[in-house]
Amino acid sequence: MKKLNIAIVGLGNIGSYLYKYLNDNKKILTKKTNCVPTITFISAKNKKKKRSVSFKKSQWLNNYLDATKHKKIDLIVELIGGAEGPAKKLVFNALKNKKHVVTANKALIAKYGDKLSKIAEKNKVNLEFEAAVCGGVPIIRSLKEGLIANKITKIYGIFNGTSNYVLSAMDKENKNFDDVLKNAKKLGYAEANPIADLNGADVSAKLKILSSLCFNSFLNHNIYVEGIKNIDKSDIDNANKLGYKIKLLGYSEIINNKIYQRVHPTLIKKSSYVASIDGVLNAVIIDGKPIGQSIIQGEGAGPSATTSALISDIASILRGNIKYPFSIPDKERKKLNFSDIKERSFSSYLRFEVIDKPGVLSNITNIFSKNKVSIKRLLQNPNKGTGSSSIIIITHSSKDKFLKRILNEISKKNYIKRKPKLIRIDQN
Ligand SMILES: NC(=O)c1ccc[n+]([C@@H]2O[C@H](COP(=O)([O-])OP(=O)(O)OC[C@H]3O[C@@H](n4cnc5c(N)ncnc54)[C@H](OP(=O)(O)O)[C@@H]3O)[C@@H](O)[C@H]2O)c1
Repeated sequence: MKKLNIAIVGLGNIGSYLYKYLNDNKKILTKKTNCVPTITFISAKNKKKKRSVSFKKSQWLNNYLDATKHKKIDLIVELIGGAEGPAKKLVFNALKNKKHVVTANKALIAKYGDKLSKIAEKNKVNLEFEAAVCGGVPIIRSLKEGLIANKITKIYGIFNGTSNYVLSAMDKENKNFDDVLKNAKKLGYAEANPIADLNGADVSAKLKILSSLCFNSFLNHNIYVEGIKNIDKSDIDNANKLGYKIKLLGYSEIINNKIYQRVHPTLIKKSSYVASIDGVLNAVIIDGKPIGQSIIQGEGAGPSATTSALISDIASILRGNIKYPFSIPDKERKKLNFSDIKERSFSSYLRFEVIDKPGVLSNITNIFSKNKVSIKRLLQNPNKGTGSSSIIIITHSSKDKFLKRILNEISKKNYIKRKPKLIRIDQN
């Protein structure tokens, strides 16, 4: 029977779970792939740390980089994390030394994926990263294999469980952002430092990888990114009254031969499928030809879902299935131009907190008409006993640059009490 020698580097949340899973499921994986997965070495930063996994002394590598040189090793699973530092060193060296690599590291792939895939292709080894995008949702393998027939025109959805949990809990439990985040940390749904989850960076990295696979292009860093930190309870309540939910969505789409990549909070109709995805779940929606629309939903993070994705990558290598990391050969990938969001049109929600005084409303509506943005709906809610009110405007579809111009102009007015808000609306 063939055997594949594996080194797992990084034994934190994910690495420990994977180690146990591989040991416990060795037999069934061997039956399914006709090859024995053997964990030959493991490594992490601190040798003396108490671990939840037991292993033989001889399995521990003092220097994690030795895995990349060891003749016995066929596959290195990188579970350190981060785009730079030890993870980068490990993966570059492993591929250069003709070792297969499986990684869950979205930051590394979004930044260095093009360079890494070139080395993997040259050395005829696998570079697999299913676990880097949406945990247990098998979107990478679906794009490369199950949906190979399709010309994809749009991919979008909820790619971050933490931000989705925060927004849905604010809505359902009637709590403000800070209280919900505190609770999310307690429940283990948010890391101690959840900044990349909340500012859109995590979704941005995942979306860049997905765009590249959907459009056969190199990774493209022209992406609009906005997180959820400015969303407050009033926005959630206003959205509800207007028939919407607020979700942090990532979109990559072709419109009139232009590609747009964007991540931002979005008002989406309550009746839509995406609006029904609550808590830490992720959902990916693909529009393609000939398939039409296809949806995959599931756990986006956590050791069990991520291990499911890692095992699918490892099994592919156990079967000896050498593939191009980004689906097609490097020389066939294109350097596509991605367009700036400012040229794309949106219907939008704008919220202004203003001092209640005569002339304010007409000044605001004049600025809209001067910028040729037409108003579909306007609501004015006085904030009792404060001398101020909220003005909420829903616009017809207008170029983003005009909406931003309005926002900037009005934010400078002396009747403005707080920074105005702009949330784009998904009309589907
Ligand atoms: N957590 C999730 O739900 C999730 C989901 C999808 C993808 N991912 C990705 O999976 C990867 C691992 O995440 P995690 O949550 O398991 O992280 P983690 O719990 O912080 O574990 C990181 C591991 O890397 C090791 N490490 C750090 N610096 C090292 C160095 N210089 N040399 C060797 N080892 C080093 C640490 O060693 P010590 O144990 O000795 O400190 C630790 O075992 C990341 O890329 C993450 O983005 C995570």
